[in-house]
Amino acid sequence: MKVTRLALRDFRNFAEAELRPHPRFNVIWGENGQGKTNLLEAMYWLSTLRPLRASRLRELVRWGHKATRVDGEVEREGLVHRLAVEVRDGDRRALREGKQARASQYFGALAVVMFTPDDVGMVRGSPELRRRFVDRAIFTGRPAHLATVVDFRRALDARNRLLRESAPDDLVDVYEATLAQQAARLMAARRAYVERIGPRFAEIVAAVAGAELGVELSYRPSLSVDPVDDPAALHAAWAADRGRDRERGFTQRGPQADDLGFTLLDRSARSYASQGQQRAMVLALKIAEIQLLEAIRQCTPVLLLDDVSSELDPRRNARLFEFLGAFEGQVFITTTDPGFLKIDAERRIWRVEAGAVARQED
Ligand SMILES: Nc1ncnc2c1ncn2[C@@H]1O[C@H](COP(=O)(O)OP(=O)(O)O)[C@@H](O)[C@H]1O
Ligand SMILES: [Mg+2]
Repeated sequence: MKVTRLALRDFRNFAEAELRPHPRFNVIWGENGQGKTNLLEAMYWLSTLRPLRASRLRELVRWGHKATRVDGEVEREGLVHRLAVEVRDGDRRALREGKQARASQYFGALAVVMFTPDDVGMVRGSPELRRRFVDRAIFTGRPAHLATVVDFRRALDARNRLLRESAPDDLVDVYEATLAQQAARLMAARRAYVERIGPRFAEIVAAVAGAELGVELSYRPSLSVDPVDDPAALHAAWAADRGRDRERGFTQRGPQADDLGFTLLDRSARSYASQGQQRAMVLALKIAEIQLLEAIRQCTPVLLLDDVSSELDPRRNARLFEFLGAFEGQVFITTTDPGFLKIDAERRIWRVEAGAVARQED
């Protein structure tokens, strides 16, 4: 799949912008604060209907304006799909082929994998980052996962509300049964994904950073029942936690507190991996995600690389470009320094300046 057209209206600092990207490499360059990441964010939003950085949709709307819209044309297996997403009066609308579409009808035309400097914090940062990675990665391969996440969240919110309202045990129990069903689906999906991506990840780290690293990726559910996705056992665990959760006013254990473990020679990479090793691990994880996606969906996602080169040392940067050379999909890569990108064929260069983008002839 390739993005063949991208148009922005009042999105972040762009008043109006239109690009016809190259099917292979697109180098987006400009000084800091000009809108490079915003441009990638527009594509990310078009693909996932979720903002990349913003916590509220309103943040995507250009200051002083009321609405924003991103339009895209995506070519997939010889067919052209038209996608659009907009925010108007605080509401989001997604359109496919010009018609309003529900999320379930919308997804599928465009899959993206994004790599940003923030991802480097994934090994050492909070578990939230790792949960978000795994749920987004599953979603990219299987959009229906979004409903699994949303249903679980809703059931969790319901239990938390009942606990705070001191609802009677038999009522909480009914909700816990539902919560356990939703949680089991979510945990099963996460476990299956980690089991599939883990070996690939370890292989790629070995290729990128040397076999001696001996890394392993594992799923660490906060509720350790066996099997992790047994609804009855999850239900029992929450029933047992109920008293303490009532005092806390929220559900402490469950998928909302799960984690991924990165280990390095059986030690926690969180405590022991060097900065360089962590970067290599995160890069390997993203590459594994792409390979898995190609295997699952039989399609190559569009790769969005935000300022990544600046995060890698020269040797790892060379590996990254080696990977990109072999990667068959479309790539958008932002940088402050075009000289840094070792791409000199099959590319288009875009200059971003103060919320405007222009194709640059070279
Ligand atoms: N909703 C918005 N309206 C107008 N400008 C915005 C909005 N959100 C962010 N910006 C501006 O966008 C710029 C940051 O763009 P960004 O894409 O992160 O830059 P970079 O080129 O460094 O990646 C900042 O100048 C910021 O003030
Ligand atoms: Mg940026």
